[in-house]
Amino acid sequence: MKKIFKTKIIRDINIASREIIEGNVIALPTETVYGLGANALDENAVINIFETKKRPRFNPLIVHVKGIEEFEKYARDIPDEAYKLAEKFSPGPITYVLKKKKIIPDIVTSGNDTVGLRIPAHKMFMEILSRTNVPVSAPSANRFGKISPTSAQDVYSELSGKIKYILDGGRCSVGIESTVLSFTGGEVRILRRGAVTGKQIENTIGKISEKSSGKILSPGQLSSHYSPVTPLYIVNDFNDIKSQNGKKTGILDFSKYKSAKEIALNLFSDLRKLDNMKFDIIVCKKVSSRGLGAAINERLVKASQQDF
Ligand code: TXA
Ligand code: MG
Repeated sequence: MKKIFKTKIIRDINIASREIIEGNVIALPTETVYGLGANALDENAVINIFETKKRPRFNPLIVHVKGIEEFEKYARDIPDEAYKLAEKFSPGPITYVLKKKKIIPDIVTSGNDTVGLRIPAHKMFMEILSRTNVPVSAPSANRFGKISPTSAQDVYSELSGKIKYILDGGRCSVGIESTVLSFTGGEVRILRRGAVTGKQIENTIGKISEKSSGKILSPGQLSSHYSPVTPLYIVNDFNDIKSQNGKKTGILDFSKYKSAKEIALNLFSDLRKLDNMKFDIIVCKKVSSRGLGAAINERLVKASQQDF
């Protein structure tokens, strides 16, 4: 029978580290979104992550490590571009998809011969990595397909009863997930847009390939994702909504924010707030696709219904 926990929000890194060492699953803060972490080298612990968030086993997990010097422990044939980017952006919100070494269990990578490595820029998470001395696999700490959590309270509303502890590291400073980059096949490709923009990456290593279409390389490319319970629609003009008479409509309004960075910071928490307000529908407009805007729009499209 599945265990039911009385979920506690804690600030004690000793408890969090102990939980990781004992093979348990615990929610942890990162700079992007909260993760649901466990020892990546412990198969049972990793299985527990998939079960807790009801994530399909074909969707691989990111492995968090404490520094660039760890890459060689878990990955092989690492190209110079990965090191160049890691030197510039680590710790920080890039995930490096590299050829994996055998030490990483297949369950982590869904049987793929690659592993996604990331060095998180959060003091508490880093402290846990150095105390436990194990790599920590952690997907976002939401139920599968739902909105990523950016505070301990958000995790609580997603997973209360399903995990024992949530380590509270405050509000995430970035608000959207890491950029996922693939370094296999002799080229660098963006698999998921995220907190580091394509331009920042190209400024460091030169021209990179656009996302490939067709075959799903990263299940994060699955179209349904980040979904509120209330249907979300993208409109060109908020006046269009007037025609939806009778429907209680929530507006996800970004006009109050001064930059794409600020929109990213508030995107998931604003969406979550509106989702809790019992509207019939929520509407939003796409943002300018410059800079972080492309990553924001990618999330809006995945969170929304196709037709208005
Ligand atoms: O910012 C983040 O990346 C957060 C924090 C917790 O680190 N994590 C996160 O994990 O967003 P998750 O599992 O929600 O999304 C990871 C994405 C998924 O789209 C997954 O398919 C992709 O990374 N991914 C992981 N390993 C991969 C691999 N070996 N090959 C291709 N895609 C991979
Ligand atoms: Mg996720």
